[in-house]
Amino acid sequence: MAVTVNTLKEMKQSGEKFTCLTSYDATFAQLVSSAGVEVILIGDSLGMVLQGNDSTLPVTIEDMAYHTQCVANGNQGALLMADMPFMSYATPEQAMETAAVLMQSGAHMVKLEGGDWLVETTRLLSERGIPTCLHLGLTPQTVNKMGGYKVQGRQDQQADKMITDAVALAEAGADIILLECVPYELADKITKAVDVPVIGIGAGNQTDGQVLVIHDMLGATTGHRPKFVKNFLEGNTSIQAAIENYITDVKSGAFPSEEHTFK
Ligand code: KIV
Repeated sequence: MAVTVNTLKEMKQSGEKFTCLTSYDATFAQLVSSAGVEVILIGDSLGMVLQGNDSTLPVTIEDMAYHTQCVANGNQGALLMADMPFMSYATPEQAMETAAVLMQSGAHMVKLEGGDWLVETTRLLSERGIPTCLHLGLTPQTVNKMGGYKVQGRQDQQADKMITDAVALAEAGADIILLECVPYELADKITKAVDVPVIGIGAGNQTDGQVLVIHDMLGATTGHRPKFVKNFLEGNTSIQAAIENYITDVKSGAFPSEEHTFK
């Protein structure tokens, strides 16, 4: 049966962890979804892992629409979440237009990076029937403003703001909150503070779900390997087995372990 936003809400309520991996093409979408991964993220990380850029900023709406279509063609029942690229949702009107393109390309949900400034946009998208995931913590599209790819929410003031932003976005109609590179204790608080599922990357194992970039979990990281990444191909003999192992470890809480977690 196809995964929907309701499936993820029920999983949060029952305490079953869900999994998410990125995919950018039909072959990986088929492998990932047929293994049982609940959510596929068509991430703007494609700007780095496919296009070789040093950030996600050059990714266009056309790039995202193309890869969303490719993934939709291979998908076997996962919920497809597509990233809204840099500066494609700077105003609510622009967000409506970008979301329409991605939904018409086959996405079931769109992901936006940012906090309270996106409350109104989230409400408008939700009222128009577009599910949203709001990405907090390390938001790669604002890397220049953050001064690098750094753990976010270590100071009390920053942590308190992340909690109030998550609650405000959930109240405005966000269907998922995604936390990237935040201390485990803060991710735990946010997961408990909102009714909607919380998915983490570098946010500890207390969130409702986990996400990794597929290249990273298959050991194809070039350059610096972030602390939160585990190579699931190590010790496994096929991509399929690596994905199945990732699912088992997320569901049991074994991944992420302490070595992949920020305190
Ligand atoms: O674009 C992406 O792959 C992402 C993940 C890192 C969460 O946003």
